[in-house]
Amino acid sequence: MATAQVSISPEALKASQHSERSPDPCIVVIFGASGDLTKRKLLPALYHLEQAGNLPENFAVVGVARRPLGQTFAEEMKEGIESGGGVDAAEDDLQPFVDRIRYHQMNFDDDKGYAGLKGLLAEMDGQLGTQGNRLFYLATAPEYFSDIIRFLGEHGMAQPEELRPEERTSWVRVVIEKPFGHDLESAKALNDEVNKVFHEDQVFRIDHYLGKETVQNILVFRFANGIFENVWNRNYIDHIEITAAETIGIEGRGPFYEKAGALRDVMQNHVMELLSFVTMEPPVSFEASAVRAEKIKVYRAIKPIHFADTVRGQYGPGIVDGKAVAGYREEDRVHPRSQTETYAALRVEIENWRWAGVPIYLRVGKRMAKRVTEITIQFRQPPLLLFKDTNGKCMEGITSNVISMRIQPDEGIALRFEAKVPGPTMCISPVDMNFNYSEAFGVSSANGYERLLLDAMLGDGTLFSHRDGVEATWALMTPVLEHWAKNPIKDLPNYAAGTWGPTTGDALMEMDGRKWRKL
Ligand code: BG6
Repeated sequence: MATAQVSISPEALKASQHSERSPDPCIVVIFGASGDLTKRKLLPALYHLEQAGNLPENFAVVGVARRPLGQTFAEEMKEGIESGGGVDAAEDDLQPFVDRIRYHQMNFDDDKGYAGLKGLLAEMDGQLGTQGNRLFYLATAPEYFSDIIRFLGEHGMAQPEELRPEERTSWVRVVIEKPFGHDLESAKALNDEVNKVFHEDQVFRIDHYLGKETVQNILVFRFANGIFENVWNRNYIDHIEITAAETIGIEGRGPFYEKAGALRDVMQNHVMELLSFVTMEPPVSFEASAVRAEKIKVYRAIKPIHFADTVRGQYGPGIVDGKAVAGYREEDRVHPRSQTETYAALRVEIENWRWAGVPIYLRVGKRMAKRVTEITIQFRQPPLLLFKDTNGKCMEGITSNVISMRIQPDEGIALRFEAKVPGPTMCISPVDMNFNYSEAFGVSSANGYERLLLDAMLGDGTLFSHRDGVEATWALMTPVLEHWAKNPIKDLPNYAAGTWGPTTGDALMEMDGRKWRKL
């Protein structure tokens, strides 16, 4: 196994952790702050930004939620930051950061609550010098998004206070968590509501996958290297696979997952984002409008998905990591005859000059055999005429070249190629050349939220979804969802927890004479 040698100096590596751009003083206001996301991801990410010197001096966080948490909120967040990793209890003094965390209790549909919030933010501007800049973060259940947006508009909180745009010295932005809608119609309706109140430039639809280093590295790998782009097309590539497999189940999120399912929860957003990065044309620059435009072109070039090219599955009881686990239908607050899919696989094709005729297989699933998100680029088989007469026995298993991009865990990239096995006969065997992120750079990759929160504070939308992109992916998924809803399947559950999904998922590739890569 060969490992990539890195030539970046320790100083340059350290400098890369620090953003050259520094956000303006601001307040991050998190709606739905009593939820898991705030404690486990958002606050640890903000603290890591602070540690790296990437937050402005005048900065504060306000958590907004319905529960009467008061002072205990900041303490709970402190615990979240400590258990979120990257904090050395003996050395780090969290208190100055924790002192900048406030809590505002309100119902999301309560008019008075917004008036109170507006007052609190103005008061904090006076005390902390946050200059009227606001980053509203909607981390609530999706059914509250519309209300919050509308009330922020009605209370004059969606725009900076000054009236004339050229006079504005402060900014207001809104980050909206997924799921953004549950089908095309609802996504369009939500987009309309959002854009009635916020200008599109103020809107940051977040998909945390885009904050992952390995996902951003797809673009660097393709466009900062001269040798790959020439073969990145239908002439050389046989097919592409994207797998996002998880070993966890639904983690107590029964009511959410029952309405979502694997296609809505992971395929429509995370996997489609990965697909766009792998297949898009080089953008003219790394600016938001240029990158988003290329992504949207890819989505629009995907052929409508044949129902025969779709597979769904649901896990039954099984063994995961050596432990017996319940089936989906036995999970808390899940219907005992639920039709919700916990596994989905699709075969899609992009109808453009680069990709026509190259099948792309996508699969996502919960309670699978292994936690792994990987993109596999399988190249065409060379003619091999040269080696056809060599010892048949040791020619077994000749494989095509593969570039695999490991998004998580064990982040990295590997190239599989054939090599001569040492010895007097001409034996050939596949070998892997590996680049492993943490070994090469000696740093573990940050949780995606750090980069995305920083970008949102800086007003950089490159790694966020545009309304057209979200609608384009829903346009692809909605007919599949409608077809599935009308055609329940009888044999659910159809895979045991801890396996690679239903046999129909394997058949999707087998009918093309292919197999999922062993991960
Ligand atoms: C979330 C989904 O968006 O992504 C979860 O709602 C899923 O169901 C999660 O588990 C996966 O994210 P990650 O970063 O753990 O791969």
